[in-house]
Amino acid sequence: MNEGTPRRKAGAQGRPDGRGHSSARATSVAPDGALASFRLDGRRALVTGASSGLGRRFAQVLDAAGARVAVVARRAARLEDLAADLHDAVVVTADLADPSAPGAVLDAVVEGLGGVDVLVNNAGTLVVGPAEDDTTFRDVVELNLHAPYELTRAAPDSPSRRVPLSVVNITSILARVGARSIPRPPTPPARAASSS
Ligand SMILES: NC(=O)c1ccc[n+]([C@@H]2O[C@H](COP(=O)([O-])OP(=O)(O)OC[C@H]3O[C@@H](n4cnc5c(N)ncnc54)[C@H](OP(=O)(O)O)[C@@H]3O)[C@@H](O)[C@H]2O)c1
Repeated sequence: MNEGTPRRKAGAQGRPDGRGHSSARATSVAPDGALASFRLDGRRALVTGASSGLGRRFAQVLDAAGARVAVVARRAARLEDLAADLHDAVVVTADLADPSAPGAVLDAVVEGLGGVDVLVNNAGTLVVGPAEDDTTFRDVVELNLHAPYELTRAAPDSPSRRVPLSVVNITSILARVGARSIPRPPTPPARAASSS
């Protein structure tokens, strides 16, 4: 992990005046007119799981809408690659399955961005199998449940926050319905005999 040492990446079109940016990419997301009210200039956004997939795209869209973005995941090289295309992004490498990570991530993000206005709890994993491996079970609960809770709970409150915190939680339909029954391992003969 590399929490506590946020690194800023200045994109090709940095914002030296700190008052937001407008670029070709921003225009493609929020053109002048109908979508102008959706601009996020001056806002600070934290996106977990930004090294690939949906989180990477969320970070790009938030950046294009004018927010300064902190990108969080384990794969530092992928985050650095993403940050190189964003405006003055902050890279925080962390394993959010580590119970101490959310606090360290928030410390690093506040140091790098000065606060958090938009929190996107996107990092998550899907493990299908018997929940009898305690380490795997704990890691999934830490990443999918505890980390979003802790990031939301501990996100810095006013006066450091200039606007109410917006929280976006990315989840799965599998949080609500089972995909299929999961086969259990066969009962050992000794236990089967003693219980009959
Ligand atoms: N794509 C879908 O169809 C779909 C459907 C339902 C729900 N979702 C949910 O949407 C979210 C994003 O999914 P995706 O499809 O974009 O998946 P993905 O491409 O696998 O992205 C997952 C992200 O989470 C990060 N991550 C995983 N474990 C982590 C850990 N221990 N600590 C920190 N970061 C971690 C990964 O980065 P590193 O590996 O670099 O850490 C990666 O950036 C997930 O929560 C997923 O459950 C997606």
